[in-house]
Amino acid sequence: MVAVALLTWLFFLNTQSLRSAALLRQSSESTAPEALAAVQGVWASQRQYQCPALLLSDNPSQVALTFVKEAEEKLSPRGIAVFLAAPQHTQGNGTLVYLKGTIDKVRQMGGAWHCLLVVVVSDDPAFLSDFAQRSLRRHALRWSTRILVLTRLPLTHLGDLHGLLSNRNAMLLLAHRGQKTRDVGVYVAMPFSPITKLPNRVASWSPSKTWTQTLQSQFFPDKFIVFASAPTLTVAVELMPHHSLTWVDDPLAKEGRRLVYTGALDKSVTYLAKAMNFTHRYVLSSDRTFGTIMPDGSWTGMMGMVVREEVDFGGVPFMLSPARAAAGDYTAMMWTGNVMILGGLGGLKIDPWGFLLPFTLIVWAAALTALLSVLALLEIFSFSLSSKTLHRGAFSPVRVLLQQDVVWPAEWWWWERLVLGLWMLTTLVLTRSYAGNLMSLLAVRYVPQPFQTLRDVLDHPSVAMIWQKYSKNEEFLRGVQSGMFREVADLEKKGRLKFNTQTQFSNSLDTLVRAGDHVLVEIDTTVKNLMALDVSKKGRCDFYLSRDGFLPFSSSIISQKTNPIIQGLSPRVMALTESGLFRYWMQDVPNFTRCNNVPKKVAFSTTLSFTNLWGVFALLAGGLTAALVVWCLELLNLPTKKSSWKTV
Ligand SMILES: *[C@@H]1O[C@H](CO)[C@@H](O)[C@H](O)[C@H]1NC(C)=O
Ligand SMILES: *[C@@H]1O[C@H](CO)[C@@H](O)[C@H](O)[C@H]1NC(C)=O
Repeated sequence: MVAVALLTWLFFLNTQSLRSAALLRQSSESTAPEALAAVQGVWASQRQYQCPALLLSDNPSQVALTFVKEAEEKLSPRGIAVFLAAPQHTQGNGTLVYLKGTIDKVRQMGGAWHCLLVVVVSDDPAFLSDFAQRSLRRHALRWSTRILVLTRLPLTHLGDLHGLLSNRNAMLLLAHRGQKTRDVGVYVAMPFSPITKLPNRVASWSPSKTWTQTLQSQFFPDKFIVFASAPTLTVAVELMPHHSLTWVDDPLAKEGRRLVYTGALDKSVTYLAKAMNFTHRYVLSSDRTFGTIMPDGSWTGMMGMVVREEVDFGGVPFMLSPARAAAGDYTAMMWTGNVMILGGLGGLKIDPWGFLLPFTLIVWAAALTALLSVLALLEIFSFSLSSKTLHRGAFSPVRVLLQQDVVWPAEWWWWERLVLGLWMLTTLVLTRSYAGNLMSLLAVRYVPQPFQTLRDVLDHPSVAMIWQKYSKNEEFLRGVQSGMFREVADLEKKGRLKFNTQTQFSNSLDTLVRAGDHVLVEIDTTVKNLMALDVSKKGRCDFYLSRDGFLPFSSSIISQKTNPIIQGLSPRVMALTESGLFRYWMQDVPNFTRCNNVPKKVAFSTTLSFTNLWGVFALLAGGLTAALVVWCLELLNLPTKKSSWKTV
C-alpha cells in the first residue's frame, strides 16, 4: 500500500486553480487533467462558484506541497488564508485517525461560511467509506456544503457511499479510462432510494465532447424540494387539544395497525407531504412528551426520536431552545407565542349562603353586640329606676331591627327614648346597607381572577403550578440559576410544582385547576384550546387567562442536524405561516376566543333559582325546628312555669 498522506487545504477555486488538477493524480497515466476539467466544469456551473473549497485526498504529498505554495501566492493578495494540515506519513490506520480531526474542521468551515466545496479524491474504498460514515455521524456536511467525490473505483465498490451520496448535497465523479476512451461520469443518488440502487449518471465529460448531459438534469440538484420517489417518512407527533389519535387496523402497515392523527397539525403535515411528494407514518414517543436533554446527554420524548434518527422529522412545532437548536436542525418559524397562566374561576359557583355575604363576619358580630348592649342598657335604666321586672317595651330594639311596630311606653324617660332613637338610626343604616348590598350581590357578581402574573402565584401560600413535562420550559426552569423563575423551580420541593404531559392536561384542568388549588402554566395556544374545549362542553367559562404573557418562544419543525429534509420543509412551513393558514387551522375551533377576556364583574339578569336561595330556606327551616324544640320543652315544663308565674 502506498504511504498514505492526507492533505487538506482551502483555496478559492477560480480558473487558475484548475491547476490543482496536477495534484489529484500523480501516476503518469493518470486521468488527472480530465478529472480536473470535470471538477472545474461542475463547479463553474454553480452560481456560488466563488466559495471556499477544501480538498481531501490520500495522495502522497510531494507535488502537493509545491502546489500549495503556488496557491498561497495566488490567493494571499485576496486576503484569503490558506491552511494546510501537515501530511502525516503513518502506518496502519493512521489515516483514519487523522480523518477524524479533518472532518471536524470540515464541519467548522461549513458552519463558518455560507457555502463550501469539499472535493474528496481517493481510490481507496476504505478511505472513502470512512469519510462517508464519519462525516454523516459527525453531522459535518450541511446542505450548503457541496461534496464532489472523485475516484476511479467501479460503481459497485462504492456501496458505502450511498448514505453520503443520497442524503447530502453530493455528486460522484467517476473517472474511467478504457482502451481508447477516457471520460468522467457524473452521478447523483436520489434521497431515500434503496441502498441497492446505483446512482444515476446525469452527465459525462470526455476530452473530445466536453459535456454530454442527460435531459433535465442539473449539477447538485435540489433533490429534497420534491421527492421523485414518494418515500414514506416517519413523523413524530403528539396529542394536542382539538386533535385526536386513533389506531386503525391496516394490514399493509408495519405492526398491522396504523396511527391516525387528525387536527390542524395533521393538516400541516399533509400539506408538506403533498408539496414534497412523500407519504407519512405517524409515531408517538414512548413518554409522550416533546423532550428535553437529560444530565447524561440523552434526550427524552420526540426530540429523542429525532436525535436517535428514529423519525425523519418531528411533525409538531417544537419550542426552540439552545439545547434543541444544538441537537437538531429546524425549519422556518412555525408559531410564536408566549406562556400564560390559566386559572379556575372559582367565583362563578353560586353560593346559596350568599345572603350572608353583604356583611363581613365582623359587621355581623358588631351588629349583634350593639343589639345586646342596647337591650342591656335599656334594662339597666328601667331596673334601676322603676320596676323590678321586665317592663313593657324591653324588646323594642329587637322589634326595631326586625322592622316591626315599636312599643313606645308612655312611662319611658327621655333617655330611654334617646337610646331607642339612636338604635333606630343605626338599624336604619344597617338594614339599608344590607338590602342594597344583597341586591347588588344578586345582580352583579364579582369574579375573582387572582393569578395574573407568576409573582401572584408565588406569593400565594398554597396554590400549585402545572407546567408541561419535558418541554423547553421545564428545561429552562431546571437550568435557571436566579430570579423569579428560580423561585418557581424551588416550589417543586414544596410540592407546588408539577409537570404534566400534553395528554394529562385536560384531566388536570378538569379536576385540579377547576377546583382552584392549581394553575396551569402553558403556551397560549394550548391553554386557549383547552379552554375552548371546556366551554364547548360546559357552556360557560370556568377558567380565565392571565393578562400577562411571559417566556416568549418561537417554534418550528425539527429534524436531525444537517438533515437536508429541512431544505424542503422550510419554504413550505414559511408559506404556511406567512399565508396565515397554519394560524387559521390552529384557531379554527369552536369557542376559541369566547373566554379570552372573562369580565371580573358579571351582571346577571336571570331569575333567581332555588339553587341560589336554598340557604335562606334552610335557615328558616332551621329556625322553625329550633322553635319547635323549644316549644316542646316548654310544654313539658309547663306546670313549673305556671307556678313561677303565680308568684309574679
Ligand atoms: C488504530 O491503531 C491504534 C493503535 O495505533 C489501535 O489502538 C486502534 O485499535 C486501531 N483502530 C482500528 C480501527 O484499527
Ligand atoms: C411523486 O412520486 C411519484 C412516485 O414515485 C412519482 O411518480 C411522481 O412523479 C412524483 N411527483 C413529482 C411531482 O415528482
